[in-house]
Amino acid sequence: ARVSVLVSGNGSNLQALINACRNGTTPAEIVQVISNRADAFGLTRAREAGIPTAFIDHRLFDDRAAFDAALAEKLGEVAADFVVLAGFMRILTPGFVNRFLGKLINIHPSLLPKYPGLDTHARALASGDKTHGATVHFVTPTVDAGPAIVQGVLDIQPDETLDHLKARVHALEHRIYPQALTWLARGALRYVDGAVVWQIAN
Ligand code: GRF
Repeated sequence: ARVSVLVSGNGSNLQALINACRNGTTPAEIVQVISNRADAFGLTRAREAGIPTAFIDHRLFDDRAAFDAALAEKLGEVAADFVVLAGFMRILTPGFVNRFLGKLINIHPSLLPKYPGLDTHARALASGDKTHGATVHFVTPTVDAGPAIVQGVLDIQPDETLDHLKARVHALEHRIYPQALTWLARGALRYVDGAVVWQIAN
């Protein structure tokens, strides 16, 4: 499978995906990395891995629809099988999402449907939750509400600090994102009418 990855920042999840594709764990090739920020370290990671990169500055566009149109055009240059959001900090318009429905996945640092949006780790701690984690899901027009492909769960430790919890969830993300892409690339699961459907070989 051919994959485009969208990043806005550090790109540690991108790095986990690059590594998994490189070592053969994930039967996919990342053919393009796009960022809306020129200084995203994810772009540096991609360049170091020899992956073509693009920078599309969202500030140059009048509205979300115009930015998304430019993004769709850039994605169209490679027409990958899957588009992977890895710390991409822009909300995508329904028009864009629907165009890539079933091909577009995201990772979110909470056990969705708990804590869509930002500051998920602090919210889990403030709520006194016993568990926390991360979710890989198909992207649908409502933010952080698409069907889950896999969740990584961990037990919150007594007196765990915010930074410690963040780091542990991040490490979990680096395991479940390549796992999800592996299943997708193998055709083990797909998106059908708002749900994840597994295809078990017989
Ligand atoms: C991750 O926590 C991911 O769940 C969220 O953005 C963060 C990206 O981290 N969507 P990185 O850039 O992959 O290190």
